Amino acid sequence: MCQSTWHDFLRGLPKCEHHVHLEGCLTPDLIFHLASKNSVQLPPTPEYTSIETLTHRYGHFTSLDDFLHFYFIGMSVLQHESDFADLAWAYFQKAHADGVHHAEVFFDPQVHQDRGIAYETIIAGFVAGCQRAEAELGLSTRLILCFVRHLSVESAERTYAKILENGHFESDTVHGLGWSSSEVGPPKDMFREIYASARERGVRLTAHAGEEGDPTYISTALELGARRIDHGIRLVEDEGLMERVVREGILLTVCPLSNVQLKCVKEVKEVPIRKFLDAGVKFSINSDDPAYFGGYILDNYCAVQEAFGLSVAEWRVIAVNSVSESWIEEERKLELLERIEEHVCGFAELV
Ligand code: HPA
Ligand code: ZN
Repeated sequence: MCQSTWHDFLRGLPKCEHHVHLEGCLTPDLIFHLASKNSVQLPPTPEYTSIETLTHRYGHFTSLDDFLHFYFIGMSVLQHESDFADLAWAYFQKAHADGVHHAEVFFDPQVHQDRGIAYETIIAGFVAGCQRAEAELGLSTRLILCFVRHLSVESAERTYAKILENGHFESDTVHGLGWSSSEVGPPKDMFREIYASARERGVRLTAHAGEEGDPTYISTALELGARRIDHGIRLVEDEGLMERVVREGILLTVCPLSNVQLKCVKEVKEVPIRKFLDAGVKFSINSDDPAYFGGYILDNYCAVQEAFGLSVAEWRVIAVNSVSESWIEEERKLELLERIEEHVCGFAELV
């Protein structure tokens, strides 16, 4: 826990979250509850004996793929529109309590469709959760649909066809596209055609890259049209690419506690926060899969403060970049930037 005045400063600092998977907000508690309600059989393995055994296992992930195994089992308990809506609502309430004003959230429809859940059911549930957060909490929200790298390109194409069929780009129901899941292994550019098509339509594009994979995963994502990189911590291994990222104003959505839990780094101190600040790389700080990694966004902010002892001025830069690189209208940006200035002024004496 960071020191109390800093904790107050960080809690009240207006935040934007750009990297959180709604399915990564399924707590063990909710998994067992929904499995029972929906008569979903969880695996007969020791981890799934109880909430406690599952929580314990979550503390011992060995890699991204080891985590993904549990993440995909977890999401199998989501069956009905209301399950998706309740999950999103649970996340937005937590985010609001942590000082989030704007949230851009990922979801993985392919994985649900693969087990027989209709695309329309998933969307209707998540949209309902977003609308409730906007109406009751004053949050602005955006849904970013993620393609997954462990399933086939044909599966991604079927999901892409569903977006087009439903007019979900035009209606802004799906605001942007991303990709996630296993990084090293599948072809780096497997979504080349889909991204080219989406780009032509003017759709916003992001991609998970440089989490476990080397910087060429980042350069491939940029080549395919991504204008934001999720994680991207291995960018520091390629100075030329880092200069390009700065020049082009690409935002990295960094997730420090996730990186520690998935053994990408040994401790938060190894996440290149200081290097990114010094080089002028824009980044936001995010929770990724908070129910699996033991921390929501504020826990990530506090962990960064404990590891790096940043100044108020440095936090202001992080908060301002998070707003200016959000996928929202100018008017909303100005509103959030004003709130940041007000908050920072109130803590001017903090050193
Ligand atoms: N990386 C890749 N895929 C994911 C992640 C992640 O951190 N979280 C959920 N799916
Ligand atoms: Zn992620």
